[in-house]
Formats: sequence, structure tokens, C-alpha cells
Amino acid sequence: MVNKHRPLSPATFVPPDLVRPGVRLVTSGEAALLNSTTAAAAERMFAAAAAAGVIITLASGYRSFATQKVTYSGWVRAQGQAAADTASARPGYSEHQTGWAFDIGDGSGADAFQPNFRSRPAALWAAAQAHRFGFVVRYPWTFHEITGYFYEPWHLRYIGIEAATDMLSRGIATLEQYFGLEAAPGYR
Ligand code: DAL
Ligand code: ZN
Repeated sequence: MVNKHRPLSPATFVPPDLVRPGVRLVTSGEAALLNSTTAAAAERMFAAAAAAGVIITLASGYRSFATQKVTYSGWVRAQGQAAADTASARPGYSEHQTGWAFDIGDGSGADAFQPNFRSRPAALWAAAQAHRFGFVVRYPWTFHEITGYFYEPWHLRYIGIEAATDMLSRGIATLEQYFGLEAAPGYR
């Protein structure tokens, strides 16, 4: 469980079991990797979506500490630190570094990493079905005061089928609330 109050430890942690899932990729290199449990679940989910006529692509998976540093710095340069912190984790604080999280795209490539992605078939399908494969939409709409990040309809986090289904059926929106952890809107 990683958020702005709970960094990876050590900060440069690397998952020991990174693998490349057999899914449709729109990325390469380390970003095409996930930890082995997440990869297997992603394969099942992407295949089920495809069987339902919905193309889901893997847009960004694992990110090392070094990559997150570059990614976050880019956000800071473009938007300043306050805005960057609502969209991109500081190095050592990203779920992408755990191997348990990834960003999805739509078959069309449209609205990638944009708020409108929420209306794309891939996002609609994931919002409704991802729990069946163990995933939750980690940064839901209007919960940034708890999660620390604005809405990311593309960012999925593996927590297991039982927990993801339980969370959805109880109407609990964030992992912070589900696990009874304090809200983490900002860094300490
Ligand atoms: N965009 C998410 C919050 C990350 O940088 O990990
Ligand atoms: Zn993400």
C-alpha cells in the first residue's frame, strides 16, 4: 500500500518478479513489465474484455525509481510542483514502482491519460468489470483529498478478486478507506 504518506521501502525497491504480460502493449521496455501476479491477472482481464469486444491496451506498467524521477521532474517543469503533485507521484512514492499497478489505454488510442478517457469503452468496461479480475480504479473521481491525486480512470491497481469485489459491493471508493488508513492528500 503506497501513497503520499507511505513510500516504498527502500525507496529504490525493485519487484523481484517483473514479467512482460501477454497483452496488447502500447509501450515497451520496463513500462511493459508488471509483477507476476498482476501480469497474470491482467492477461485474464484483457482477454475477457476482448471477448466482450472491448480492446484494452497496456499503456504504462512498471516504473523504476529512476524513471519516476524523470517523469515527475517533467511534470514539475511543465506545471510547477503543486500541480505536478496532483498528477504524478514523487520518486519512491509511485504505485507503478510496486509492479502492482498499470495504466490502460483504449484500442483507438483516443483520450489517453485525459479526463475524457473515462467515457472510452476500455475505461467503462474496466470500471464495471475490473474487480472480477482483482483490480480497482485507484484514483477515483472527487477523492483526491484522500488519495492525493486527481481522477485517473486509466490507473488500475491489483488487490485480489476478493478484496476488489468486497470494496465495490460495499461502495468503498479508495484503498485508504478500505484499509482504514489516514487520508494522504499531501506529503508530510
Ligand atoms: N500518476 C500516478 C499517481 C503515479 O505517478 O504513480
Ligand atoms: Zn498510473
